[in-house]
Amino acid sequence: MGKIVGIDLGTTKSAIAIYENDQPKIYQNTKGKRTTPSYVALKKTKDKKSGEVSQEWIVGETAKNQAIVNPLSTLYGVKRLIGRRFDDPEVKKMEALASYKIVPGPNGDAWVEVDGQKMAPVEISAKVLRELKEAVEKQIGEPVTEAVITVPAYFNDAQRKATKDAGKIAGLDVKRIINEPTAAALAYGMDKQKSGKIAVYDLGGGTFDVSILDLSMDKEGSMIRVLATNGDTFLGGENFDERISEFLIAKINEEHGTDIDIHDKASKAANATVLQRIREAAEKAKIELSSQDVAEISLPFLMQSAEGPVNFTYNMSRKELEGLVQDLIDKTLPPFQKSLADAGLKLSDIDDVILVGAQTRMPKVVETVKNFYGKEPRRDVTPDEIVAMGASVQAAILQGNVEDVLLLDVIPLSIGIRTAGDVMFKAIPRNSTIPTEFKDTFSTNQDNQPNVDIRVYQGERDVASQNKLLGNFTLDGLPPGKAGTVEVELTLAIDADGVLNVEAKNAKTGRAQKITVKANGGLSEQEVARMLKDAEANAEKDRIFRESVTALANADFELKDASRHKEQDYYKQAPEELKQQFEETVKDLTTARDKRDVQQIIEKTEKLKNVLTSIGEAFAGASTASETPAAPEATPAAAAEDKPKTPKAPTP
Ligand SMILES: Nc1ncnc2c1ncn2[C@@H]1O[C@H](COP(=O)(O)OP(=O)(O)OP(=O)(O)O)[C@@H](O)[C@H]1O
Ligand SMILES: [Mg+2]
Repeated sequence: MGKIVGIDLGTTKSAIAIYENDQPKIYQNTKGKRTTPSYVALKKTKDKKSGEVSQEWIVGETAKNQAIVNPLSTLYGVKRLIGRRFDDPEVKKMEALASYKIVPGPNGDAWVEVDGQKMAPVEISAKVLRELKEAVEKQIGEPVTEAVITVPAYFNDAQRKATKDAGKIAGLDVKRIINEPTAAALAYGMDKQKSGKIAVYDLGGGTFDVSILDLSMDKEGSMIRVLATNGDTFLGGENFDERISEFLIAKINEEHGTDIDIHDKASKAANATVLQRIREAAEKAKIELSSQDVAEISLPFLMQSAEGPVNFTYNMSRKELEGLVQDLIDKTLPPFQKSLADAGLKLSDIDDVILVGAQTRMPKVVETVKNFYGKEPRRDVTPDEIVAMGASVQAAILQGNVEDVLLLDVIPLSIGIRTAGDVMFKAIPRNSTIPTEFKDTFSTNQDNQPNVDIRVYQGERDVASQNKLLGNFTLDGLPPGKAGTVEVELTLAIDADGVLNVEAKNAKTGRAQKITVKANGGLSEQEVARMLKDAEANAEKDRIFRESVTALANADFELKDASRHKEQDYYKQAPEELKQQFEETVKDLTTARDKRDVQQIIEKTEKLKNVLTSIGEAFAGASTASETPAAPEATPAAAAEDKPKTPKAPTP
């Protein structure tokens, strides 16, 4: 068996590592660098003699280096597009940022267009992966065919699957997808052999993630448990660069009477090369200002203005940079706070804060975290290498080269199905540890119901349709049978990669239907936060909604059963007085039901059950051998969407 590599497929930079000689080792790329820009470009060359144009794909360093002269065909940051729909708000944000074209793909996903050719982001990511893989193959002299790849904790199902697909296209069997902060914690824990609660603060090129983890590393066995995770899928170094760019553009426009507008499509297209140069200068200055007090930004012959060529120079101070981006840095603190709250911890419970992501090299980021935490964060890890190193540790665990470390990760929002009356049935509650599985039996709600429609949602609202629809499917060919007698086994499973599989099965016919849920787009931290807040704000409304749906379903069940009772011996032999009470209550309940009077429905349903019990008792008193009519348990919840099911339901 060959070596399984660990890969950090980053928004701006990627890294690859192998666990060997009892430690993770970062492998250099063909240019001798330990990280590789996640840049891919289609380069065209014209043969001087024949005039023939040839084209080739270039990746990494070489692609990044020619970005200025080839802005329309140089792709970067595609991790922000992978597994997302074209109409996703985050894709719109990336559109504003990118110099290349983002277009809708054949199935409504976000794709890119290069030289008139439409391509899926997975194909672009695959090229980055292949570059990393081939660099390692050259060095170790054997093929690399298996990998563990990391993704942001907030990547949803579709994004994880897309990342796996990218691996496949690159010729890699992706053995496991793990979360970046978890990988960082794994590498850190293995290295330091420390137990305790840690916070991983990862500010990379495109995303911000914060995770609270519980590490217990000892000789008998090690465990890493993610207690909570939070973040922002659109906050990273690139946003810092954009801020600086905007500032520089304003200066250029002011000084030279130009009218570059970064937010205008036409202006952006017309000035693609100019903007690319500004962006690069901005990033360069930002990086220099991590170790210097002043950075010189020099952009000679940037463009033509009415007055002639624009030669722009500017000296930016560290203070000035900090002023431009402080609010972006501050945006990392609320998710940090939330993750602590979700983990049920206080800041003082955290033994170490680990800084990950190259943007944390900025002194102001360190200072902001320090002020928040009240202590120095740890900086003895290499922020842009630790994630790939952790992935390689996971690879070694899978290969049995490292003592087992139990990795326990969580899902950020509940996953459930829509049940009768649009009630959300939370099968897997938020912050559940993965892998996890939910299995239960649901039953039909109508006589001879031919099928059930399973709708899978993610979110915290009790009203299913207010949550995010992840996918739906229909299980048909159900055998005929009375309501409540035809059973459907439902399984929701999230695997170690965080991928969700849903299956519905009828045991009698063996018919089954399943989906690997395709999400409609990513859930950003803002979206998650908004959904949580929305759930909180609507808690009372939702409670009333759930109560009334439950009451209605219970009443329906009792009313349906009433005619059956009346044909039984115990009813026929009951005292007239009880029979009369029964009839009256049925009538009252029907009226209340028709009027949708929830309070009355609940009261009368209860009363009907009591009368039934009395009838049963009277019968038992008369003949000890008789059966008491059992009042059915009524908890309405069912898998059918518009065909509500009988109260025979799972107790969550
Ligand atoms: N010395 C430095 N000071 C400040 N910022 C830096 C420094 N070095 C790199 N960066 C910034 O860090 C970002 C890249 O970080 P990193 O390589 O960790 O991200 P990534 O893994 O590609 O992204 P993500 O984790 O979001 O997918 C870039 O925006 C880069 O400009
Ligand atoms: Mg990263």
